Amino acid sequence: MFELEVSASKTYKITIEKGFSLFSERVLPYLVGRNVAIITDDIVDKLFGGILDGFLENKRVVKIVLKHGEKSKNAKNYLHIINALAENDFTREDSVIAFGGGVIGDIAGFAASTYMRGITLVAVPTTLLSMVDSSVGGKTAIDLKAGKNLCGTFYQPSAVYINTEFLKSLPKKEIKNGLGEVVKYAFLSDTVKKSDIKNIDENLIYKCLKIKRDIVNEDEKESGVRALLNLGHTVGHAIEKLSGYKLSHGACVVKGLRYSIEVSKRLFDLDGKTVNKMYALLKYAKCDLSVNFSVDEIAEQIIADKKRQGDSVKFVAIKDVGKPEIVKIHLSKLKEMLNDYES
Ligand code: GLY
Repeated sequence: MFELEVSASKTYKITIEKGFSLFSERVLPYLVGRNVAIITDDIVDKLFGGILDGFLENKRVVKIVLKHGEKSKNAKNYLHIINALAENDFTREDSVIAFGGGVIGDIAGFAASTYMRGITLVAVPTTLLSMVDSSVGGKTAIDLKAGKNLCGTFYQPSAVYINTEFLKSLPKKEIKNGLGEVVKYAFLSDTVKKSDIKNIDENLIYKCLKIKRDIVNEDEKESGVRALLNLGHTVGHAIEKLSGYKLSHGACVVKGLRYSIEVSKRLFDLDGKTVNKMYALLKYAKCDLSVNFSVDEIAEQIIADKKRQGDSVKFVAIKDVGKPEIVKIHLSKLKEMLNDYES
């Protein structure tokens, strides 16, 4: 068993275990009221639907099942969730369990943070991506037509319960998706070693989350260092959007990392040895770096991204493996560097 404590606007524990021995001890104390809403998706419900019920025998459980996938992270489903809470007489004492991957964590977190101005949220992530990244740190969101995650809050859960048993039924594609974020952590800090990437276990999740925990403790609302967690995401998000969200988030983050290396090479005049070390890491993790979109298409998406800062973007560059740096780059300069790489 591994454990971490986050000290942001709320202090809470992350429990990482293999069996289910600690669920009751680590989760039940936070479910104070009689009502608990389990928000999940159809795939998780089919695979693990009954697992939590056994622990919640003394509660009135309301289950809300959404269709899996990014398209579900919308305003209609958000309203569906909060209306269901209201219709089932949820009060401020009652709780929401986000039981699923990143999409469920985001929308359930957003619903919990806004229903009656905030009710208890417990995260029980079931995918590698949500275990190593999105279940911790309090980012909640739904997507708008204009872009991904444009409507959301910072709202920390009361507890995060991670159980690697859930990973056993995860399709290979989903493991690859999560590996994208794992590789990102290996670039952010040399505490995640190349050799760690091969063993997807409690220790790897702990190492990734320790990096995230330290960053969130320092900068919960992303006014500074938290932007480091967006390494690979500037171009990654653009590719994700261009693919119509058919490519997974993690798959796009690794493609984005390729551009982070190339931009960093130009920004810092990196030597061949350092650049080779970075590519070796991507190769070791068997990352698919192919991109079917032109630099012009990617640049257009970055310009359209509402999260840019005027004519610039906060780009996470890498001086070496384990040495990231946030650099403000003018969009025209970024486009020039990407074009230079493509030609
Ligand atoms: N996934 C990036 C963050 O939580 O800030």
